[in-house]
Amino acid sequence: MVKTYKIAVIPGDGIGIEVMQEGIKVLNTLEKLNKDIKFIFDWYDWGCEYYLTTGKMMDDDGIEKLKSYDAILLGAVGFPGVPDHISLRDLLLKIRQEFNQYINLRPIKLLAEEDCPLKNKGVKDIDMVFVRENTEGEYAGVGGIQREGTEEELAIQTSVFTRKNTEKVMEYAFRLAKSRNKLNKVTSVTKSNALNYSMVFWDKIFKEKAEQHKDIKTETFHVDATSMYMIQRPESFDVVVASNLFGDILTDLGATLQGGLGFAAGANINPEREYPSMFEPVHGSAPEIAGKGIANPIAMIWTVKMMLDFLEHEDLGQKIMGAIEEILKDRKKLTPDLGGNGTTSEVGDMICEAIKK
Ligand code: NAI
Ligand code: MG
Repeated sequence: MVKTYKIAVIPGDGIGIEVMQEGIKVLNTLEKLNKDIKFIFDWYDWGCEYYLTTGKMMDDDGIEKLKSYDAILLGAVGFPGVPDHISLRDLLLKIRQEFNQYINLRPIKLLAEEDCPLKNKGVKDIDMVFVRENTEGEYAGVGGIQREGTEEELAIQTSVFTRKNTEKVMEYAFRLAKSRNKLNKVTSVTKSNALNYSMVFWDKIFKEKAEQHKDIKTETFHVDATSMYMIQRPESFDVVVASNLFGDILTDLGATLQGGLGFAAGANINPEREYPSMFEPVHGSAPEIAGKGIANPIAMIWTVKMMLDFLEHEDLGQKIMGAIEEILKDRKKLTPDLGGNGTTSEVGDMICEAIKK
């Protein structure tokens, strides 16, 4: 029986548009090789350019439109001329929150020794996955600005941590640790020495969850120490669970460990599948290289792999990873961020060729 998946495609801005072409190229290649799978793509031109002509980042009924899809693929949004807090909040954060995509999954895995920035570390040492809380915490959007423009001007931004969501995020992390079968460990990122309400609460729930999963080892570090240990001994990490802000920051550090933003893939997941999940690389629209055709498409293609995993086609996902690892051997043909002189579409083509082999 042919399985048909409806995918909403939002390329966004800048290199988001360029790398999306390659992600779709890979899906088309897989579709041709597998007669039992079919993708229907609907393209949405939402983003900053759309904002500059319409005053909106997405249609008013955008959320309603996206509801019926099996998944959403997103490139990147953001462009000079549109304030970042608008582009982020009115499109990305809106979708994450409206669709209760409370898990942000970000794998940090080094594929080729050449891309390792650390002395005396390598492929065997860098393989962890971040489970970042994705709908509340520091990014809940609660706060305000008062007495604007006066000397007494002030801003308040409040974090929100609900028991329900915090429990679910941690539960997800423990289950993931079980399924990965690596170190059977979950590391919790905290800052409960200074954040004496939110992070004390976070630690308490982590302890409760650890009690329920005694077969999984646990450790808790402050966020500052975590950033140090990720460099010093990345091999000691397996699954890391973190709040929205801490996870955001540490996964950029993680991206560097795996060879740069050109490798960093991400998924925004609604585990209950009540709403579509959204798959997007970690990187932004990279205005300074946009339009040159030299953006690294690997992060986007790895993101496509995560989408296929979520759609329960892990076999196809593995094919993609194998192909990415294969093409990393010929360094000259890679994009400039990896020291080569290849283009975005050439790298996409090479990955498709490797998939066909
Ligand atoms: P960025 O990720 O766009 O770029 C950071 C650096 O990494 C730049 O030097 C860029 O050239 C390089 N880079 C990123 N992705 C690359 C790729 N695939 N291949 C080669 N080089 C790559 O982050 P930046 O500069 O902080 O933000 C630029 C715009 O993107 C802003 O408007 C920001 O708000 C937005 N942004 C959007 C995100 C999203 O849509 N999820 C995430 C991060 C930023
Ligand atoms: Mg970020």
